Amino acid sequence: MALPPSAPADGALFRLTGVGYEYAPGIEALAGVDLRIDRGDRLAVLGANGSGKSTLLKLLAGLVQPTVGAVEAFGSRLDAEALGDETAAQRFRRRVGIVFQSADAQLFSPTVRDEVAFGPLHLELTRDEVLTRVDDTLAMLGLTALAGRAPYNLSGGEKKKVALASVLSINPEVLMLDEPTNGLDPRTQEWLIELLGELGGAGKTIVVATHQLDLLERLADRAIVLGEDHRPAADRGLADVLDDRDLLLAVNLIHEHAHHHGRLLHSHPHAHPPGLEHHGEEQPEHDHRHGRSPHDD
Ligand SMILES: Nc1ncnc2c1ncn2[C@@H]1O[C@H](COP(=O)(O)OP(=O)(O)OP(=O)(O)O)[C@@H](O)[C@H]1O
Ligand SMILES: [Mg+2]
Repeated sequence: MALPPSAPADGALFRLTGVGYEYAPGIEALAGVDLRIDRGDRLAVLGANGSGKSTLLKLLAGLVQPTVGAVEAFGSRLDAEALGDETAAQRFRRRVGIVFQSADAQLFSPTVRDEVAFGPLHLELTRDEVLTRVDDTLAMLGLTALAGRAPYNLSGGEKKKVALASVLSINPEVLMLDEPTNGLDPRTQEWLIELLGELGGAGKTIVVATHQLDLLERLADRAIVLGEDHRPAADRGLADVLDDRDLLLAVNLIHEHAHHHGRLLHSHPHAHPPGLEHHGEEQPEHDHRHGRSPHDD
């Protein structure tokens, strides 16, 4: 079954119906997902560690197929049969780019330049167009000086930038980014957020998975929130989700309590490891030593 080149008239790029996924029998990673993504949506996938964010992105990118339910992309069923058709699969991969949570899982070429060229070489571009696109993408990400280096020898943040470059060089219409700002220095984070803002403004569809709530308002307009039971707890406008303290507490995305940062005590919403939740507002706020203070010794 070939994927048709254009989306159906109602504009839905992706439609997930009753989707569930198990990595092994009885080990649920995602369940009960009904989701629609329209052209130009900027969707955040939120949830605590292990809630299923990366799994949802992999399903949307056609890297895994649902155990139950159906994924439709661009008006056709995205299943093993569709992705087994090489032409259709290639067309899909040009339209949907994914940047993995772990850059190590993404990088496979002998040099940074080869890595960034891999996608464009598979597009219908002339040799000069490929070279220009690769050079432009390397320059845009500040990677020009690293072009001849082996990706596996780079620092974590540098690898992340190469992974981003390898997807941006394809210029896909849908961008899936799994924890994109993790491990990036402040300037690169800011650069990426601005770039994603521009791409969103230019009509790209952007799906970002994260458990970090800061920065999010600049990245997304809407959020699907996954609970620790791997099921959607909400799918609403981002501002509405971020204002819903009870929801964020219930899914373990915030926890309000006081911290010491060195000698400074303050409190703020805080992501918390599963199983260590505090219950109810009435509990007295307590101090929580966070890492080592300069006076620990
Ligand atoms: N390759 C795998 N094999 C078996 N189970 C897996 C595998 N990958 C993920 N899981 C399980 O599936 C569930 C969802 O994992 P997933 O990676 O989608 O979560 P996540 O929300 O992205 O978490 P994180 O915030 O830590 O990135 C978890 O319970 C996880 O242990
Ligand atoms: Mg993940």
